[in-house]
Amino acid sequence: MNRRPKSLYAAGILAAGSVLGLSKAASAQPGPQNWLHPAGIVAKMQLELFNLTLYLMIGIFVIVSAILIYTLWRFRARGRQVPLPAAASAREAAATGEGSHDLPPQFDNNHTLEIIWTAIPVLILLVMAVATVRINYSLAAPPPEDPLEVRVVAHQWWWEFEYPELGIVTANDLHIPVGKPVQITLESGDVIHKFWVPRLAGKLDAIPGRINQKWLQADEEGVFYGQCAELCGASHALMRFRVIAHEPETFEAWAAAWGKPPSAEEARDPEAFLRGQELFMAKGCNACHTIDGTAAMGTVGPNLTGFGQRLTVAAGIMDNTAENLARWLSDPPAIKPGSLMPNLGLTRQEVDDLVAFLHDLR
Ligand code: CUA
Repeated sequence: MNRRPKSLYAAGILAAGSVLGLSKAASAQPGPQNWLHPAGIVAKMQLELFNLTLYLMIGIFVIVSAILIYTLWRFRARGRQVPLPAAASAREAAATGEGSHDLPPQFDNNHTLEIIWTAIPVLILLVMAVATVRINYSLAAPPPEDPLEVRVVAHQWWWEFEYPELGIVTANDLHIPVGKPVQITLESGDVIHKFWVPRLAGKLDAIPGRINQKWLQADEEGVFYGQCAELCGASHALMRFRVIAHEPETFEAWAAAWGKPPSAEEARDPEAFLRGQELFMAKGCNACHTIDGTAAMGTVGPNLTGFGQRLTVAAGIMDNTAENLARWLSDPPAIKPGSLMPNLGLTRQEVDDLVAFLHDLR
């Protein structure tokens, strides 16, 4: 036996192992970013297209491998080896049926075979092309029934979400109702980013000076992890977000309660809240951040209205706990390299007061 069949078997085993590994991953528990567990119609359609291609490829792989293995076995060298220079005369001998069995009968110009092995790939490509074009058309625009409009602006390194019809601007937590198409209008505030919520929809580029659109939909309640999927600077990997899918009534209630002016009376620690509010204005936080119902109207950084409800601090990288928020406020660039939010040199007391204020924004 020469070496070629061995390496072919090895490649076959490797490929079969990859397929097994893939199906094992597919059957694993749904991770927060496991696109093999779609939670919405768009991601489902995209997975179907992937599966169609995958199964076609597995079919081709199995058939071609079977023919290859059969051929290797059936026509393996037996007995006397034909020296290479003799191959041409052996070929003639084989064609005329004379001499040894070292080479099987050779032929060319078999039109039937040529038509078959052209037609089959053409058919396979046609099946894939039709399915791809069909899904591309379905994904080009949301179903006509009144989608929720959301303008998404990607920034280094956070996400701005604006609901133009609802007058809401928020950041890093995208609230959507279950079962309703969401029309995303995607822009970039600086460099190229990429919007990706694996369990809800595939990727879309955010390109400066361009508006890209896509739609997605969550068909079950839950928190879906999203992140930037295009290298966009030092903290690219720290540019994450959450999509929170609510039952429609809960979503309506969330939207209706939005933008209530902050109130010290309802705060857990009114005095700390007031001190924090004053610091927010005095330390210049208001120059970059907006809080609806206050004098803070900066637009450089994330809108902090209702910040107490946010699931995370610093665009999806830490849970929104008092401890994490304090860490962030104490030295943002230490947590997110390149962050536009500077280290303001706050004292521990100032940090605690700001945390009290921000966490009572609801
Ligand atoms: Cu934004 Cu990577």
